[in-house]
Order: sequence, then C-alpha cells, then structure tokens
Amino acid sequence: MNEIEIIKPDDWHVHFRDGEILKAVVPETSRDFSRAIVMPNLIPPVLNEKDAIEYKKRILKAVPYKDNFTPFMTLYLTEHTNKNDLKEAYLNQSVFAAKLYPAGATTNSSSGVKDIKRIMPILETMTEIGMPLLIHGEVTNKSIDIFDREKVFIDTVLDFICRKLPNLKITLEHITTKEAVLYIKQGNKSLAASITPHHLALNRNALFDGGIRPHNYCLPILKREKHREALIKVATSGNEKFFLGSDTAPHLIADKENSCGCAGVFNATYCLSVLTQIFENEKKLPYLEKFISINGSKHYNLKTNKLKIKLVKTSKPLTFQKKLNVNNQNIQIFNPDFPIFWKVS
Ligand code: NCD
Ligand code: ZN
Repeated sequence: MNEIEIIKPDDWHVHFRDGEILKAVVPETSRDFSRAIVMPNLIPPVLNEKDAIEYKKRILKAVPYKDNFTPFMTLYLTEHTNKNDLKEAYLNQSVFAAKLYPAGATTNSSSGVKDIKRIMPILETMTEIGMPLLIHGEVTNKSIDIFDREKVFIDTVLDFICRKLPNLKITLEHITTKEAVLYIKQGNKSLAASITPHHLALNRNALFDGGIRPHNYCLPILKREKHREALIKVATSGNEKFFLGSDTAPHLIADKENSCGCAGVFNATYCLSVLTQIFENEKKLPYLEKFISINGSKHYNLKTNKLKIKLVKTSKPLTFQKKLNVNNQNIQIFNPDFPIFWKVS
C-alpha cells in the first residue's frame, strides 16, 4: 500500500497559545485537520463566553485563506465557575466543552480545581445539557510519584465522577498508562480517551537518552515501555473509545532548554506522518482512519468530515524541518527517532 485515502482527520486536543505563537502554530494544524478542540490554558485562562468568542476570532484570523478549519472552544473550569454562565455559553454554541485541570497539574493550571466536590453542581449541569468534560487526569499531590499520578487520579477522582454522573460525557485526555486503557475500556459508555502521537512513539527512556532531553518532556510524563505498548495496542485496534488528541503544545526553545523547562511537545507539523508510520509499523493501517477521523466525532456526537485526504508513501525517509520560526525565536518540532515515509499529499 503506497497511498491511502481517508476521511479528513480532526485533532481533539490542541494548544494554540496567543499572540505571535498563535499566528505561527495555527496553520500547522489547520493544514491537515478539519476541526480541533482548543485548550483554554492561556494566561489568564479562557474563563467565560466572552473570552472564548474573542479567542476564537484571533484563531480564525490566523487560519490561512486556503484552509477550511473550525476551532472548537473550551472553558477553563475553576471553583468559581458559574454554572448558569457555563450553560448559556454552551447553549449559545460559543463553547464546545469545559476543561478540568487539577490545580497545578500542568502548564498554566494554577487556577484549576483543588477539590472536585466543589464543582459537582457544575458537572451536574453539564450532564443535563450534554456538555463534554475534558480532563487532565493527574493528581497534583507532590507526595505521589510523578509516574503514578494518572493511575491515582483514576482511582481517586475519575472513578468518583463516573459513579456519581454515569451519563456525563467525559474525555480522559492524553492517556499514558495501561491502567487508563483498562479503565476506559471497562468504563461507562459516555467515557472515552484521547492519545497523543508522542505517547505512542516514545517511552520514558526518551527523557534521558545520553543526557536530559527537554523536548520529550510533557505532562502527563512519558511512561514505561509496557504502557506505551498498551496505548499502541488499543489505538490501532479500532476501539471506538480511543481517538487522537495530539496535545500539540508549543513552547519557545528557550523555555524548554531551561533550568526549569516547560512541559509540552509541539507535534502538529508532522502529526499525520508520524501516526501513519506507527500504524504501518504495527501492520494496522486499516484502522488509522478510525483513530484519527471517526472515533472522536462519534464520541462528540458530530458528523464525520465530508472531505478526504491522501497519505502517500515516499521511497526515502522524510527529512523533517527542525524548527518553526516565531519572530526571531524558534519552537522545536517533534521528530521521533524512527524513519518516517508517509506524507500528506
Ligand atoms: C500542555 C501545555 O504546554 O499547555 N503541556 C503538556 O505537557 N501537555 C498542558 C497540558 O495539556 O497538560
Ligand atoms: Zn494539553
């Protein structure tokens, strides 16, 4: 198979930032994807309908004329979020979902939620109106080992929410462990998960490969090989509860190569090339379309895209562009350590 045509994909988890970075990164997503869910963790965060409308306008301005791209906006949940405002923003279709960041879990999450019980009334409203809840699933307790934070979150927080509100539409985002795969598989019908290309491509050895590798540092952090294998198995299986959310998360190189480097992998540019290669290596190319173009839209009760894209296999490995320029600075583009032969035609 040297050419495949599939439904145009969607990316169900992106970070576009703002200002000059936004202008540089939006075209990297809008080129290959039809729709994307845009994270609200700006500084300050996207807290209300007005913030979301304004932010959406700035994103649309950065979409090149040739691209047909729709950003889906999200609100950042805090313990002060007003459930009636949230409901109104959703019913007006200004926002698509709400994002739960446990306070301090990741980049720009300091105003997140400390105690899940305080937002249960909001989650009840979301269940009533059918608004999806997107979750960064890690506990933030510093006494819990960083490699265990997702598993402990599932046991202590996610399971609590799923039992109380079995009909709430939930996406456990960027899952990284075999425990998460199992929980989602066995969980409520309304529960699904997204998976990133970098968690499919790398295990935690990639953080310390001959030296410290800040560009492979993201949250949730890369895990052991057995977890990567579990992610690969389920992502390439066609299981409808699992789909792409790239978590493309641009940071300037100076902020990554730093004594306290930021978490995040910028992977938008070659996202589809990397994923196609991974599926081919697993001999699972026939399931690629489900993972990147079908399962996510089903979970979100959306129609799949009408447009198609063609992926073409090259005779020589692709040479990746290393950096994306932003004014006089750069963002490092994700490049896994195996040869990649597929490109979007
Ligand atoms: C994201 C970011 O940079 O905003 N970083 C990351 O490592 N994934 C935040 C997030 O999604 O956790
Ligand atoms: Zn993210």
